[in-house]
Amino acid sequence: MLHFPVLLEESVDFLLNDVNGHYIDCTFGRGGHSKLILEKLSKDGLLTGIDKDPDACEYAMKFQNDNFKIINDSFNNIEKYFKEESISGILYDLGTCSTHLDQPERGFSFNKDGPLDMRFNNKIGIPFSVWLENASEEQIRDILYKYGDEKHAKLISNAIVKSKIKNKITTTTQLSNIIKDIHPEKNKKIHPATKSFQAFRIFINNELEEFAESLKAAEKLLKLGGYIVTIAFHSLEDNIIKNFFKPSLVSFPKDIPINNKEEKKFKCIAKKVRASKDETNINPRSRSAIMRVFQKI
Ligand SMILES: C[S@@+](CC[C@H](N)C(=O)[O-])C[C@H]1O[C@@H](n2cnc3c(N)ncnc32)[C@H](O)[C@@H]1O
Repeated sequence: MLHFPVLLEESVDFLLNDVNGHYIDCTFGRGGHSKLILEKLSKDGLLTGIDKDPDACEYAMKFQNDNFKIINDSFNNIEKYFKEESISGILYDLGTCSTHLDQPERGFSFNKDGPLDMRFNNKIGIPFSVWLENASEEQIRDILYKYGDEKHAKLISNAIVKSKIKNKITTTTQLSNIIKDIHPEKNKKIHPATKSFQAFRIFINNELEEFAESLKAAEKLLKLGGYIVTIAFHSLEDNIIKNFFKPSLVSFPKDIPINNKEEKKFKCIAKKVRASKDETNINPRSRSAIMRVFQKI
């Protein structure tokens, strides 16, 4: 079980602006980025890793380093753990780890038979199968449109509902076969259940809402001059990032003779950085990665 960290050198180079600073890796995963950050920090530097997934945090216990600690929580709760303006840099490498897809028992993969779970934190909340049992056709369809941009959402949601009347859908294979059987694009290279599985995963983990909340908290925790580095894997995540960091417009009443002006809290340091050819050849997952870097000003 391996996870190749995406845009590793590039993201860490941008993030580290002070080797004595305190950094947060909001998506510890298998510690690919954290490991390199720790190698570059001085003996006074600190790194806190966060991950929602208890398995990731158990893995982090192997990191024997006095300058490192791990927190098992969602990154939308970061404000609970740090003082305002105390952090030099915050990293988000969003989405799933390859290790999630490699473990059938976590229920993320349409290629591997396992319980239909899909939760990053499988100790809290309900597995996707339990939600699906009680979901209406409209609810399923809306999720497929909203989080998967699946143009066959109506067809898929209808097939799922018909199928669950006959048999409970409790495994990844059952769900992926239902989608594969009715999907009009089944002969394309990409598996017909790809978009649906992405949509259901984003939904059951409340991914976009938690990320948007976390950015608000990150803004407060970051020192002036500190950096936020984001690595997104689809347009929904990337839109949240672009929106959050877009300068806001301060407008004055018409009778005040001052032009409206832009208020900038962050400077964009790098936008739309993509993985190199060498990296995408070794790690196909990196093909869809988009990195952005912002500095608090
Ligand atoms: C792409 S992986 C990170 C990989 C990591 N950078 C590495 O190189 O090993 C994303 C990780 O973020 C975690 N995650 C997703 N949503 C989260 C959230 N709301 N709060 C905390 N961790 C989250 C997942 O459990 C997963 O381990």
